[in-house]
Formats: sequence, C-alpha cells, structure tokens
Amino acid sequence: MSLVDSAVEEILRWTSPLHHMSRSVTADVEIRGELLREGDRLLMWYPSANRDEDIFDDPYRFDITRTPNEHLAFGIGEHFCLGAGFARKELKVMFQELFRRFPDIEVSGPGERLRSNFINGVKHLPVRYTPER
Ligand code: HEM
Repeated sequence: MSLVDSAVEEILRWTSPLHHMSRSVTADVEIRGELLREGDRLLMWYPSANRDEDIFDDPYRFDITRTPNEHLAFGIGEHFCLGAGFARKELKVMFQELFRRFPDIEVSGPGERLRSNFINGVKHLPVRYTPER
C-alpha cells in the first residue's frame, strides 16, 4: 500500500482507459516529419503514447514503482481531463479498501474484455477471496 500512488499512475499508463480522442486540424502543421493539413481528422491513440520508448524506459514492463511516469491517460493541454484528480482519488481509495477487506484476493480464471472502440475495460473478471467475518 505504500506504493499505491505510483501504482495508480502505472495502472493508468498501462491500461489507458480511453483508447483515443479525435482532433480536427485547423491549420497545416508538421509534427515529427508528418504533414497534417487543414481539415484533416486524426485520432490521438493514448495507448500508443503511453508505450512511447522515447519517454518510458522499457515501456512494455508493468512497474508500479515507475517514477517519473509522464503518461497521457488523461490527455494533455487545454482539454486535459477535468476529472483527473477525482479519478485518481477513486482508484486509490478503491485499491486501498479492496486490499484492506480482501487481502488474499486473486484472479481465478480468464476475464472477458469490454467490446468498445472507445473504452478499454474489463467486463467480467472472476476472482477468489476469503470473505470478511
Ligand atoms: C480513469 C478515469 C478517466 C480517464 C482515463 C479520463 C480521460 C480523459 C481524457 C483522455 C480526456 C481528454 C479529452 C481530449 O483531449 O479531447 C478527458 C477529458 C475530460 N474528462 Fe476525463 N477521464 C477520466 C475520468 C473523468 C471523471 C471522473 C470526470 C468527471 C468527474 C471526467 C471529466 C472530464 C471532462 C469534463 C473532460 C473534458 C475536458 C475539456 O475538454 O476541457 N473525467 N478525460
């Protein structure tokens, strides 16, 4: 639990709960050698940004001690997620309470992913734990 803050950031980086947001290009611009033209539509793929090997050491390693962790799970710039502080707090409290009440909880079978082209989520995940007395 002493690692819960950095764990929450790594879980956000690793899962990238939103797959993408879109943008409309309002003026011609070149980004890393790619010319984007006025009127183009594009998708910003958060899972891709969150595996950027120029930013993250060993990006395909899930590491709850990772610091710094400059992930983009909440976007960036003027549309940065308004609920980021709330979402971070929810995740922290959820994991603290889950492991306090069910310290031996573990995955007990294959999960089922959500079918969505927008949200990256898990629909069902069977677990095993000792019930509270
Ligand atoms: C883990 C949970 C969440 C994730 C991963 C997430 C992710 C994001 C992302 C990537 C954006 C950027 C959109 C863009 O650039 O076009 C965004 C925007 C936004 N989010 Fe979240 N979000 C989460 C939870 C929440 C919660 C709990 C709230 C409200 C209580 C919220 C409210 C908003 C709002 C209002 C915006 C739009 C901000 C703007 O356009 O200026 N989000 N979110």
